Amino acid sequence: MNDMPAGPVYLDNAATTFPKPVSVLEKAMETYRRIGVSPGRGGYDLAAEAEEFVRETRRKAARFFGSSAPDRVIFTGNATDALNIAIQGMLHPGDHVVSTRLEHNSVLRPLYHLRQKRIIEYDLVPFDGKGFVDPADIIAAIRPDTKLVVVTHASNVLGTVQPIREIGRRCAEHGVPLLVDAAQSAGAVPIDVDGWQVAALAFTGHKSMLAPTGIGGIVLAGQTEDIEPSRFGGTGIDSASPVHTRDFPYRLEAGTLNLLGIIGLSGSLDYLGEAGIEAVHAREMELVTKLRDGLSLITGIDLYCAEDLSDHVALLTANVRGMDPHDVGAILDADFNIAVRTGVHCAPLVHESLDTSPGGSVRFSVGPFNTGSDIDLTLEAMKEIARHGGKG
Ligand SMILES: Cc1ncc(COP(=O)(O)O)c(C=O)c1O
Repeated sequence: MNDMPAGPVYLDNAATTFPKPVSVLEKAMETYRRIGVSPGRGGYDLAAEAEEFVRETRRKAARFFGSSAPDRVIFTGNATDALNIAIQGMLHPGDHVVSTRLEHNSVLRPLYHLRQKRIIEYDLVPFDGKGFVDPADIIAAIRPDTKLVVVTHASNVLGTVQPIREIGRRCAEHGVPLLVDAAQSAGAVPIDVDGWQVAALAFTGHKSMLAPTGIGGIVLAGQTEDIEPSRFGGTGIDSASPVHTRDFPYRLEAGTLNLLGIIGLSGSLDYLGEAGIEAVHAREMELVTKLRDGLSLITGIDLYCAEDLSDHVALLTANVRGMDPHDVGAILDADFNIAVRTGVHCAPLVHESLDTSPGGSVRFSVGPFNTGSDIDLTLEAMKEIARHGGKG
């Protein structure tokens, strides 16, 4: 349990998990108070200690993501930052990219930007009626000039977990690197960068990894050399040179690192290691299943891609027939003190495909500190809303 003051029923954990484990926050504060100097920049003991803490966190993160290359763990601000650095760094003028209609704007917009600048071209493959991309469709879209495949691991709208192992194997057979957006899956489902032949994986700390905001990263495959920096600056290495270092991980890190965030991430990796991500996920999925079962009994509620919750993270998307999802969210908040996310969730093409544009949907996302009673209250509220506001 997390000893926090009572607040709303918080079902917006896919945006950011809340609350964070108290032990993670307390440990972060204690460690930052002790070693909060600029890591790797000074010759004094405390700087060396801070740098060693950062290095140890790279090792921990590499182990957590199934990578044997801690020096290829790059710290970034979040998944958006990681995806921008990876996409811009891995592509060259004239390249073609294959991605999917499940993607978040943190993939779609960097790709669109590069296409508008006439630097790249891309094709997006569809997902099926259950919310999954067929690896064969990805392979079929590969052209001779395809230099990158980008796939979201878990959809932030549908919750479906894509078959990355198979996609990775098939991309490797075609010699095309695979970049995975693990924003929603990191900390929720086990990830094996080396075993799945993933070239680069972008993660964020503040969702299922249970770290504070402001920290994320890229886990690059061990032998990656073909990635160029898009930001340049101080690294603490070779400071007299006008050229940004080629050494990893510093090649892709410029400026002072977010040490407090890295300390938070280190603590959250310990927390997840102790709690076991499978156990946390199983409990969350029990609650999501209870929510799905309850919602599916309410007349006038449409659920999307939730018939089978295996290969799913702990979120559900629904609409009350005849009601604007923003109104549903506003009523849940104002009348029932339940926090959810409404709209298109930064994934507009998912909603286009579901035919839920432009309003989008209501997303319920469960975290480790939700309880059965949160789900009961939500189901009661949704019953009321569907009875009074919706069209059965
Ligand atoms: C699938 C997906 N990708 C990327 C992101 C971006 O994560 P962040 O806001 O931490 O950069 C999100 C956040 O909602 C997401 O759900």
